[in-house]
Amino acid sequence: MNSWEKAYRKTDNLWGDRVDRSLIEYSSLLNDGDPVLDLGMGEGRNAHYFAAKGHPVTGVDYSSSAVRRCQELCIESGFEMETIVADMTQFPVPSSSYSLIIISNVLNFFHPDEIQRIIQKAISGLVVGGMIYIQAFNRNDPAYARNEKMAKKVDQGTFYREKNDTYIHFFTLDSLLDYFTGFEVLVVTESYRLDLTHGEPHHHGIIEMLVRKQAG
Ligand SMILES: C[S@@+](CC[C@H](N)C(=O)[O-])C[C@H]1O[C@@H](n2cnc3c(N)ncnc32)[C@H](O)[C@@H]1O
Repeated sequence: MNSWEKAYRKTDNLWGDRVDRSLIEYSSLLNDGDPVLDLGMGEGRNAHYFAAKGHPVTGVDYSSSAVRRCQELCIESGFEMETIVADMTQFPVPSSSYSLIIISNVLNFFHPDEIQRIIQKAISGLVVGGMIYIQAFNRNDPAYARNEKMAKKVDQGTFYREKNDTYIHFFTLDSLLDYFTGFEVLVVTESYRLDLTHGEPHHHGIIEMLVRKQAG
């Protein structure tokens, strides 16, 4: 059992129900019925927002407990969404299919080669005019310094954590923007924020980005 599944089994509603603010602010760029994909959706705090607005939403996560909780919340709230238990590194994103793809707080947990493949898949899954939303930790995140002391450094931003056989990568803004050459940049921010959503209050160094695919 992976560490995410263990965490979801310990508590209900691990990440709370606060929707990422930029998604609310820019949701008016979507037309009624535009399809949305949330990769690594957790219990679906962002996915639910769009499902409640009537968008066809697909949410993917490899924790079956998170996906079950997401479906329970849909039933409680009276809306529908498609939920899939799958590893997002293997999940085949259909090409030119989505108007919004959300990858929030999950892209850090891969080797850079996998990150590249996930982003390429997401880009090809977008319709022209479609948007990708990413929230990810940058190198100001306190976990970067902790990993420098405790984990094996693979490259400048990447660590291998032997204990659970996983990688963690911390982005720079430029390295993330590089994937989206030719895209319109709608939102790009870096911040150092207090996180009160889970566990003891703690801080994160965060990059938030919303980009839109252009024709051609
Ligand atoms: C920090 S949580 C974020 C959840 C959600 N995106 C949010 O912002 O509330 C990271 C999520 O990514 C999922 N995840 C991690 N690696 C994954 C993978 N390879 N395939 C699918 N889901 C994965 C975990 O199960 C977990 O639900």
